[in-house]
Amino acid sequence: MSQLVVIILAAGQGKRMQSDLPKVLHRLGGLTLLEFVVEAAYALDPAEVLVVYGHGGDRVPQTLPNLKVTWIPQSVQLGTGHAVMQAMPDTPDEATVLVLYGDVPLIKQTTLEQVVAQASETSLGLVTVDLDAPTGYGRILRNAEGAIQGIIEERDADSQEQAITEVNTGILAANAGRLRRWLASLKQGNVQGEYYLTDIIALAAQDGIAIHSIAPNATEEVLGVNDRLQLASLERYLQRVQAEELMRSGVTLRDPARLDIRGTIRAGQDVIIDVNVVLEGQVALGDGVSIGPNVLIRDSEIGPDTQILANCVIEQARAGARCQIGPFSRLRPGAHLSDGVHVGNFVEIKQSQVGAGSKINHLTYVGDSDVGKRVNIGAGTITCNYDGAFKHRTIIDDDAFIGSGTELVAPVKVGAGSTIGAGSTITHDTPPGQLTVARNRQVTIRGWKRPVKPTSKAP
Ligand code: UD1
Ligand code: CA
Repeated sequence: MSQLVVIILAAGQGKRMQSDLPKVLHRLGGLTLLEFVVEAAYALDPAEVLVVYGHGGDRVPQTLPNLKVTWIPQSVQLGTGHAVMQAMPDTPDEATVLVLYGDVPLIKQTTLEQVVAQASETSLGLVTVDLDAPTGYGRILRNAEGAIQGIIEERDADSQEQAITEVNTGILAANAGRLRRWLASLKQGNVQGEYYLTDIIALAAQDGIAIHSIAPNATEEVLGVNDRLQLASLERYLQRVQAEELMRSGVTLRDPARLDIRGTIRAGQDVIIDVNVVLEGQVALGDGVSIGPNVLIRDSEIGPDTQILANCVIEQARAGARCQIGPFSRLRPGAHLSDGVHVGNFVEIKQSQVGAGSKINHLTYVGDSDVGKRVNIGAGTITCNYDGAFKHRTIIDDDAFIGSGTELVAPVKVGAGSTIGAGSTITHDTPPGQLTVARNRQVTIRGWKRPVKPTSKAP
């Protein structure tokens, strides 16, 4: 088999997006459109992936520096045919070229394999699809025998041609030498004054090349993103597919339409996810995890049988088994909860370990702390970890009991089994097993009178 070179067209502005951002950098399920296409290309194990970029200057390669592709500039966007031409000089004649569009993100490996298999000296593969609403797409022209003769862009089509429902997806595979010759004879004689890649189909037909159409498994695979409405409808489709995968793997979704996954989820069995949950980045959910409504989890690991109640935000955090988190808890980066930890409402934890069985149930900030096992932190406790310039650590040893409304001024250590009286401001380490109270004693002023306004005389 000849070597495969994939050319991805990503230089267009995407006028219809009405955006400052180059179109291929808009996101679907958390990833840029271009990343989807590059991933589909990699799946074919090609000799090379060339990405033609241009609108927005270097913004596309700069945003995605980790993509293993060769970046090919197209400094003026003179059309899809012109874009492919930019990528041809170093491509050997005997190679097979697969053209992908950077704005057609959900294309699948199996469809691509079929279209590549059709490319030879004497034949060409083209992905086409029948659409109920073909508006905006190039239409496929066939002769009386059903052989493909060319593609007409919607803008250049008459009303009879516009009635054709078989459309060009833009995805094609051809012999590189042949493609090079067809590209060289493209003309700008169309409404947009562009070099249309689609015009090579008529040239190929004239050369007696057999043009094989390939249909995708699902129409959504080949839908293009030209405006934000199409972006949103592909997003819904992708979310539905991801939700179905999760359900098949044993996750209960209270409403598959009200979960958004923007990343990669690993979920154990019997996970239950309530409505309006957003999972981003790399999220791992152990067996039996339950997630309440309105929860955001990003790049975090949740241990088995842990319950996350409504309205929590959890980011770069870890929770062990059988924890109870929320409602209204915030776990920030570096919050690591061991097994059986309870974190309640309006509690924020950052860069802190919390030992097994500890409870932090109400209105508390724990930052830069090492909390031991079975510690009880009372309502309204604050670790004062920042002196305006530096962050300091707070250490709370096993079995400590921190009374409500306590301030722990770091660096400070609360000894094992210490009890801290409510309302204390702790500035020195506390001895293990003792009660420490750091607040003024209560006084009562006997006979004190509350001031009163003089009453005005009745008229
Ligand atoms: C194109 C096809 C149309 C097809 C549709 C499928 C042409 C002329 N038309 O139309 O037949 O039905 O896709 O989605 O090919 N690009 C460049 N450089 C350019 C122009 C475009 O790299 O000079 C890139 C764009 O970034 C985009 C892709 O090529 O990723 C397609 O361009 P777009 O303008 O979206 O073409 P459509 O009008 O959608
Ligand atoms: Ca398009």
